[in-house]
Amino acid sequence: MADDLATSAIPGVSDQDGDPFRLFDLWFAEAQDSEPNDPNAMALATATPDGIPSVRMVLLKEHAPEEGFTFYTNAQSRKGTEIRANGHAALLFHWKSLRRQIRIEGPLQEVSAERADAYFHSRGRDSQIGSAASDQSRPLPTRATYLARIEELAARFPEGDVPRPDHWTGFTLRPDRMEFWLDRPNRLHDRRLFTRRPGETGWADTLLYP
Ligand SMILES: Cc1cc2nc3c(=O)[nH]c(=O)nc-3n(C[C@H](O)[C@H](O)[C@H](O)COP(=O)(O)O)c2cc1C
Repeated sequence: MADDLATSAIPGVSDQDGDPFRLFDLWFAEAQDSEPNDPNAMALATATPDGIPSVRMVLLKEHAPEEGFTFYTNAQSRKGTEIRANGHAALLFHWKSLRRQIRIEGPLQEVSAERADAYFHSRGRDSQIGSAASDQSRPLPTRATYLARIEELAARFPEGDVPRPDHWTGFTLRPDRMEFWLDRPNRLHDRRLFTRRPGETGWADTLLYP
């Protein structure tokens, strides 16, 4: 059937499934079926207080409408330092197999120590050791230096879980903007922007020119 280019293919708030979190869930489920690797990979953009940006990939580990999108990292890394100084960030999913993009923006909040512990200890022991031994984003003299730290930690904690370093934590982005982009024929792509209504529950939405 021909694609009806005069009609948006992305549901809005007045449609069934038009809630942006519900829409995210629908697209995320489809990405899990179609992406060859890491459908939960997203670009995380942060910036210094004077606006110099940086971006890298992280993995989405939890998400819920009430709170937002959560990833885990080392708070002493470059991203962590920027987040501490400027608590606003942007996330981007691009699912190539689906030709879809979702942009998400808003303030970040650190997760509780209990929640960081629970996630850290849900990972395999080797992953726990690898991240506890890493001064993420700081200069590493040689790979052997890192391996020696890993061996030292493995010997200090010979079995079971490894304590989570205080600086290994999670951050949750609570969106105030979510934009869905869908590839359409002839580059007449479809964009729908949802913005959180200030001081109210619910979202407003609008189409955007592609
Ligand atoms: C697909 C993918 C997923 C990644 N997931 C994470 C992650 O969840 N947490 C993390 O700290 N780094 C993750 N990384 C590594 C980061 O991209 C980055 O190299 C690291 O966090 C240091 O970034 P920074 O120097 O900007 O702090 C991932 C990299 C890739 C390619």
